[in-house]
Amino acid sequence: MKVKLDGIEKHFRTVWMKGSTVCMIDQRLLPHRFKLLKCRNYLDTIEAIKNMTVRGAGAIGATAGYAMAQAALESANLRKPLKYLFMAADKIKASRPTAQNLFYAVDRVCNAINNEETLESAVKAAVLEANAIANDDAEACRKIGEFGNTLLGVKDSVLTHCNAGWLAFVDNGSALSPVYAAKAAGKQIIVYSDETRPRLQGANLTSWELLNEGIEHYVIPDNAAGAFMRDGRIGLVIVGADRIANNGDTANKIGTYEKAICARAAGIPFYVAAPTSTFDVNCRSGRDIPIEYRSEDEVHWIYGMTEKGKRGRVKVTPEGSKALNPAFDVTPAEYISGFITEKGIILNENKGFDFEKLWK
Ligand code: MRU
Repeated sequence: MKVKLDGIEKHFRTVWMKGSTVCMIDQRLLPHRFKLLKCRNYLDTIEAIKNMTVRGAGAIGATAGYAMAQAALESANLRKPLKYLFMAADKIKASRPTAQNLFYAVDRVCNAINNEETLESAVKAAVLEANAIANDDAEACRKIGEFGNTLLGVKDSVLTHCNAGWLAFVDNGSALSPVYAAKAAGKQIIVYSDETRPRLQGANLTSWELLNEGIEHYVIPDNAAGAFMRDGRIGLVIVGADRIANNGDTANKIGTYEKAICARAAGIPFYVAAPTSTFDVNCRSGRDIPIEYRSEDEVHWIYGMTEKGKRGRVKVTPEGSKALNPAFDVTPAEYISGFITEKGIILNENKGFDFEKLWK
């Protein structure tokens, strides 16, 4: 999407590869500073995934694909290149446990390597495949926007939790893509954006995106969403997904489950927007989805910008209190009205979801 820098609009993806360097927007600094980070080797790229310089299912997936491509390039001069590549694949997969796109991307690049007969062609194939993953992600999200737009009225209001906009993917986004498509079609959409604790991704990232796109929005505290839904302010909820199980149970940023319950209580549709690369056919239900627990510090401390324009953190809990920080929760399929994918919208038929058409 476009970012205005010093008055000039420039198109950016969240992550891309130039030669053997992986470049990405440093999302830790948004919304106050727009800066790029360059990772020169695959270990640096893994670190960027771990410390959430790059985050969001699709963006993590593309970055993981690029990390594999970097490892392939690095392996070209080694005596045991395959051993190096297997090790790299394991390390990349261990960087973050929940986002399915990460595993999808590493496996896709490994398959591309396996299909080649020489090391030289395998390295080329790895780079090509990593770029293909990124392009596929951007295109799938564009189509999600087209399908999702059909759910939005000429004047509508959407609640989204966390950030599943273009920053969470390579481009376009999942949950926000329908909003961008609606705006392009001349519709008037108001977005309510939360996830104001612990990572503040609704407050920091979604608001930044919407501001850039000129879309009317309000950042609301996490615990205001239920009341706003009941009061009739919100027409529908659209969230993203980090992993979707075979029965439709969906892992997304912590707090999503509560939004789904509130939406059900208020009689509001609750949609999940995600590309098919987020579906994990090996998970029978949400119970099989691994939930990442992150550092207690993300709960104890808040980062922000001081009035003097300096980035800093403040402590919000007493010394000695312990914290728990699950990064995701699972929303049971029964609360989900439908999935907006690049292959169309799959609605919740009374018997559950028929995902067959996704795999044709
Ligand atoms: O921890 P993150 O930022 O990588 O988590 C991902 C998310 O931002 C959300 O869960 C999002 O809604 C799904 S990613 C498209």
